[in-house]
Amino acid sequence: MQEQLKQIETEALSELTIITNPRELELLRIKYFGRKGRITAVMKGMGRLSKEERPIIGKLANEVRSKLTEAFNQVTQVLSRQEQEQRLIAESVDITLPSRRPQLGKKHPITQTADRMLEIFRGMGFQIATGPEVEHEYYNFDALNTPADHPARDLQDTLYITDEIVLRTHTSPVQIRFMEKHKPPVRIIAPGTVYRRDYDVSHTPTFHQVEGLLVDHRVTFSELKGVLFSFVQQMFGEQTRMRFRPHFFPFTEPSAEVDISCTVCHGKGCRTCSGTGWLEILGAGSVHPNVFRYVNYNPEEITGFAFGMGIERIASIRYGLPDIRVLYDNDLRFLKQF
Ligand code: PHE
Repeated sequence: MQEQLKQIETEALSELTIITNPRELELLRIKYFGRKGRITAVMKGMGRLSKEERPIIGKLANEVRSKLTEAFNQVTQVLSRQEQEQRLIAESVDITLPSRRPQLGKKHPITQTADRMLEIFRGMGFQIATGPEVEHEYYNFDALNTPADHPARDLQDTLYITDEIVLRTHTSPVQIRFMEKHKPPVRIIAPGTVYRRDYDVSHTPTFHQVEGLLVDHRVTFSELKGVLFSFVQQMFGEQTRMRFRPHFFPFTEPSAEVDISCTVCHGKGCRTCSGTGWLEILGAGSVHPNVFRYVNYNPEEITGFAFGMGIERIASIRYGLPDIRVLYDNDLRFLKQF
């Protein structure tokens, strides 16, 4: 029995030296201390010993058991230290790696362009005004001197909410709403979203306009030209030329469409300007006397001019976009360039 205990001790200690992980250690623990383990077997066999032998073997067995327990504990500690070191190495952070840049948002090119346009007009003393996008026909058409049979009022062009309520097709109704509430002088710039039944390379059903209105005693057409020329020079550069072409709008008389010299070929003629050397950017004119009558202004006493332009159009010229629909695709590869 004594021999057996000694042998158990020697074998267990030597087996412990080749343990490399907690799983092996656990198997070894079971082999010696488990319910059917070797130490346990010895302890169970004690009952068969004689009275004299029992205390001697018992003492020895206890010694072997505590020695082995101690040895097992030591190996457990070594293993856990090793495991911790390995984990530290595995989890270590390489502080020399470049950091990930946070994604910064920025304004959409349409907003950036609108901001720049408003900044220019504010610099000329215009005040910002706004109005509703869901608009009464009266403000969108009637008060703007647009007769009931005008083609713009067609279902093909205008989005109707009810028989009398429309999605505004331009920002011009803001002129009426503002003049109804304010006496002249008026000098406003009105940015906003507008809606038309249109969809091709240069039209989207939702788009944006900036409206301008200046009303006072003795306002002349040449002042309109001066304001717009200053705008195009600030927006597109000092070399930019501008021309007025006669046109028709129900709410202005005389009316004009305004072109600028092509920003790509500077007037020589290219694909962007369809060979004409000019790019159309806006509509404008002197406020029609009937419009003044609708808002109770006396057309004998005061005059004014108005203009309206598409922000997408200005943005596409500014950035050289071949198709304005890219402004609405929300493709980050495109948007990140601005
Ligand atoms: N409202 C016109 C349009 O949408 C533009 C315009 C505004 C023309 C003011 C003249 C005066 O086309």
